[in-house]
Amino acid sequence: MDLDTIMNKHLSRYFDGSKTITEETLQKLLKFLRSAPTSTNIQPNHFYVLSTREGKEKLAANLGERFADNGEKILNASHTIIMTTRADVPEHHLESVFAKERVDGRFPDLTKQERWEYMTRDFVNLRNYTYKDTHHWMEKQTYMVMGLTMMAAAELGVEAMPLEGFDPVTVDKAFNIRETGHTTTVLLALGYPDEAKQYKTPVSRFEPERLFTFA
Ligand SMILES: Cc1cc2nc3c(=O)[nH]c(=O)nc-3n(C[C@H](O)[C@H](O)[C@H](O)COP(=O)(O)O)c2cc1C
Repeated sequence: MDLDTIMNKHLSRYFDGSKTITEETLQKLLKFLRSAPTSTNIQPNHFYVLSTREGKEKLAANLGERFADNGEKILNASHTIIMTTRADVPEHHLESVFAKERVDGRFPDLTKQERWEYMTRDFVNLRNYTYKDTHHWMEKQTYMVMGLTMMAAAELGVEAMPLEGFDPVTVDKAFNIRETGHTTTVLLALGYPDEAKQYKTPVSRFEPERLFTFA
């Protein structure tokens, strides 16, 4: 991965509709995505990976009127991932996380696993009743998963573009997402850039003096 190139380029907004990510590259990217860590290993996500014309058209048609201009970006992308997050943390979800950790042998012994489960429940209760931000907390995990996936895409030579320009109500409805206990957080379009539409101007970011405090 060439960090200098990533640092100095604009995010690709327009994709070359004739180029498709190979299945091998896609599977590598999804394997990486799956490995991304989340706080307390809560794993609050489900991902809809759209590659068919039908799937991408359904998403493009349901972005909401205000965001219709994002439709073209999705249609020309090779793949778009709808990143959804659990609306809450029901007991059955926690049980699934713990059962998988036990099967995978995450901890060297059962005492440590049980201690971990106690601490996880305590932390989730803190989000539910003290900070009252459970969904927001989980969506932060989704963004981190997305950021890591963007970096992995760069490593694989794939352009990744996050999209917040969509109406979650219409997207959720089109893909029956709320029925699963999730809601759409963000979209991630993947593909190869339309070079003719790619800005070659300098990127604009605040100076280091404004960003960093060293102590
Ligand atoms: C989380 C996130 C969501 C974004 N959503 C959209 C979007 O819906 N539509 C769009 O055209 N650009 C979107 N962008 C692109 C940003 O507007 C763009 O990256 C930013 O203005 C910086 O510009 P640059 O990448 O050209 O430096 C998004 C970027 C991020 C990081």
